[in-house]
Parts: sequence; structure tokens; C-alpha cells
Amino acid sequence: MTYSRILGVGSFLPEKRMTNDDLAKVVETSDEWIFQRTGIKARHIADDFDTTSNLAVKAARRALQQADTAPNEIDLIIVGTVTGDYAFPSTACLVQQKLGITNNCPAFDIQAACAGFMYAMVMADAYIRGGLAKKVLIIGAETLSRIVNWQDRNTCVLFGDGAGAAVLGASDEPGILHSKMCADGEFASVLHMDGRMNNGEWNGAKFINMDGQAVFKFAVKALSEVAKDTITEANFPAEKIDWLVPHQANSRIIDATAKHLGLPREKVILTVAEHANTSAASIPLALDEGIREGKIKRGQHLLLEGIGGGFAWGAVLLRY
Ligand code: UT7
Repeated sequence: MTYSRILGVGSFLPEKRMTNDDLAKVVETSDEWIFQRTGIKARHIADDFDTTSNLAVKAARRALQQADTAPNEIDLIIVGTVTGDYAFPSTACLVQQKLGITNNCPAFDIQAACAGFMYAMVMADAYIRGGLAKKVLIIGAETLSRIVNWQDRNTCVLFGDGAGAAVLGASDEPGILHSKMCADGEFASVLHMDGRMNNGEWNGAKFINMDGQAVFKFAVKALSEVAKDTITEANFPAEKIDWLVPHQANSRIIDATAKHLGLPREKVILTVAEHANTSAASIPLALDEGIREGKIKRGQHLLLEGIGGGFAWGAVLLRY
């Protein structure tokens, strides 16, 4: 039986770090308000050169190195992003070119907002198990700072930029054990950026719009359920989860999900304080930090989970 395993992980954060106090000089807010409501202390902000594809490439190079994989060994590239460099071509095609991959492997983006990296992982797993690919580069990369309204304190305090990547490879040993991906377009207007190009003019919103309380309420319920469903369907007891690696949007949402699973905070990888919400990049950034800090070790069981605009959400159970 063929499984897909994580061969290597890497991430990249732009150099510029903006604290809550820095933000309080721009909008009417405070470190106390932001930290109490979200657990965020700081976020990283891309400079003009840090396009989403450039962040993605920096994370990808690290993941390839960790996986001991040459760029041309990659036979599929999937990038989860809502802030791709262009409407088209895809960021994945730009990544392919910048990494010097010349084997004509397929490359495409997935748009599932904050769930984008998990969606990419599940698709990569299906390609590998179906025999269509042997080594897949999956990336979550975002420059959300370019689509937040820096005058809107309801949203601008929440987001940051960054990228995370993983190389998945075919293996006789698991690997990805089980996953459950969900979406409900009924909630499209709760968290969205509904602007678009129309005959050469931008129509509609230019920035992220969010009903924070509605997202919060739905997120706690949906994530608790999907996390439970994923391990139940895999017949995997919660107490055997070594690490919960959640989407890093809000520490209160993360705490609620962990509590529902009966997991103590010591088993949760928490990076929201320093990264803020980096959408599709948040889970691989957390995964990479957990590995580099020596918390996550080979052979351990991880549960990834997260939700974003759509709503699109899900969870992945895997053996690292
Ligand atoms: O990937 C998924 C992405 N999104 C999320 O996960 C977001 C989920 N939602 C949340 O995390 C929370 O709803 C927020 C952190 C966004 C907001 O927290 P809240 O407890 O729901 O606050 P609220 O929106 O009900 O606002 C409470 C008050 C309001 O003032 P009044 O009307 O009570 O006077 C807001 O105007 O806090 C005010 N407020 C702020 N004050 C200082 C809103 N934003 C700020 C701010 N600083 N940045």
C-alpha cells in the first residue's frame, strides 16, 4: 500500500516585524485589547520585493533541503493562497520557474483561504496514493498585509504575512492517516473580499471584510466537530495525539478546540502571538516552528485543523 509522508518542512517570515504597539500608532487600538481577544502580540509584514511567490520560494527551498530533494525531483506543485502574485498565471507556476524546475510538472493554486494548505495536502495525498505523483511540493503563502484596510481596526490587527512549505513523498509507511475537508458557501459573505476586475476597473471591496463574531462562533463549532470526526473516522484515540497543529487565527478558538478534544495546552503548537493570522501559511509555519524547536519529532501523531473564508475548513491526522 502506498502512503504519503512528510519528507521535509520549511517556512519563511518577512523581516519586518510589527508589534501591537506599532499598530496602536496607526489605528485606535491597544496591545491589551489585541492580546486579550486574540493572543496576538506581533505580525510580520512583507516589503515590496516580498511577493507571495518570493515568500513561497524561500519556504520551499528550506523544505526541499530538509527533504533532501532536488527541485527537479518534484512532480507536482500546489500552492494554497488568496493573495497570489497575479490573477493568472498561478503562483505555483511562478514558484516552479523560480525554483528552476524544468521537468514540466503540473503546478496550480488552491483557493481555500486559511484551509488552503490542508486542502493542498489532501490533494497531494490523493495524487500520491493514486500513483500520479511521487514527490509533491505543497505551499501555503500569503501577503495579506496588501489586502487589509489599515484604517479598519476590526481586521488590520489580525493578519500577517509569511509562507510555509512541505515536501510529501510516496512511502510504504504512513504518513497521512485520515482527513476531512469541508465547505459551506452559505457563509460566503461572513469573511470575504468580494472585489474583482471588470472591464479594466476594480469593482467592489478592495479589502478583507469580516463579521468577527460570526466567524468566531462558527469556527469553534466547526473545528471542534471536524477534529473529533477526523479522529473518530480514523479510529484514533484523542489521547494518542502528540501535537495539535491548528490554524493560528485566535488563541481562544484554538483553546476551545483543544478543550473539546481533551488536549492540554502543552500539546498545542501556538505561534499566533508572533505570526498573527497568515491564512494558508499559518499551519505550515506552525508545523515548521514546532519541528525546529524540537517539539515535534519523527513518528509522532499530529492533528492539523483550521477554517477560513468560504467557509472552508477541515482537519488532517498524520504520522510525522
Ligand atoms: O481565519 C479565520 C479568520 N478570522 C477569525 O478567526 C476571527 C474570529 N473572530 C475573532 O477573533 C473576534 O471576533 C475578534 C478578535 C475579531 C473581535 O473580538 P470580539 O470580542 O468579537 O469583539 P467585537 O467585534 O464584538 O468588538 C467589541 C468592541 C467593539 O466596541 P464597542 O462596540 O463594544 O464599543 C469594537 O468596536 O471592541 C471594538 N474593537 C476594538 N477595540 C480596540 C474592535 N476591534 C478593536 C481593536 N482595538 N482592534
